[in-house]
Amino acid sequence: MTSEQLTSTAKSLVANDKGILAMDESNPTCNKRFAALGIPQTEAMRREYRELIVTTPGLAECINGAILYDETIRQQKSDGIPFAKALSEVGIIPGIKVDGGAKSLALHPGEKITEGLDGLRDRLAEYAAFGARFAKWRAVITIGDGIPSHGCIEANAQGLARYAALCQEAEIVPIVEPEVLMDGSHTLEQCRCVTAEVLSAVFHQLDVHGVILEGMILKPNMIVAGLKCSIQPSVDEVADATVNCFLRKVPAAVAGIAFLSGGQSAELATARLNAMNVRFKSRRPWPLAFSFARAIQQPAMEAWKGNKANVAAAQKALYERAISNVAARRGECKSGT
Ligand code: 13P
Repeated sequence: MTSEQLTSTAKSLVANDKGILAMDESNPTCNKRFAALGIPQTEAMRREYRELIVTTPGLAECINGAILYDETIRQQKSDGIPFAKALSEVGIIPGIKVDGGAKSLALHPGEKITEGLDGLRDRLAEYAAFGARFAKWRAVITIGDGIPSHGCIEANAQGLARYAALCQEAEIVPIVEPEVLMDGSHTLEQCRCVTAEVLSAVFHQLDVHGVILEGMILKPNMIVAGLKCSIQPSVDEVADATVNCFLRKVPAAVAGIAFLSGGQSAELATARLNAMNVRFKSRRPWPLAFSFARAIQQPAMEAWKGNKANVAAAQKALYERAISNVAARRGECKSGT
């Protein structure tokens, strides 16, 4: 793939006011969400749930790309068609989570480093053979007493850049995901400062490693107050803090910004995305899109509850969340939807 082809795939992922669906929960994360709803935590149930998502009627009207997990990219629908192929057939580009998860960072209590660079070149080749055309790597940054440290930010930024370079070498578009977590009692301003520092470090390392910005997608957190902060900003305050920070820190060459939802309610994530697209309509150099997992899937998982009889209701819930986010990209989402 030439840099033009990487660029064209990256553009396709955020085209036509659609977004990217994250359905790449690791088995432990997926099991945790199933357990909370009393759904059996087995490979068969994870497969059934992912089939429900992939076969949702109208999904391709809202979604350009879907991020799969290692187990999921090897699974098939009940008719034997692999999920990656089923997605491609309806015009959704298959992608793959390739990081090995966030592990404790040595000598940095309370901080994490994302692992998974060892053997990544070979895994990327295998995933490309399964049909993956883009990938995702998530780094997590925690705000707390005296953290994040410089060491944590630099180590994660370098990991993201080395991952992105390996992806582009393998003709795969990297989604670069530095997530500043919502956990904690920090203010909106503290989140803004940390997110700005993280984005500076990430784009410095992407530059050092020669990553083609036109051939990548940034998947950041929105700038919000911590879940335990007593002062919660308005939707417009979040939109302004987020986009103003990005205008300073994210180069215009980046193909697109596709937000994670990070534990916000589905409605709030949509309302904030909508406000960004309303308030910065004529001032943003990149598309402001979505790559939500929980904020698209949660109502569907709750409707499904592991019961075949609920599949149609769950698919309806998934479609409704997805189409609301398309409206949010256009700045046309009515509040509360
Ligand atoms: P959430 O939207 O649930 O934060 O998930 C997005 C994601 O891909 C996390 O890595």
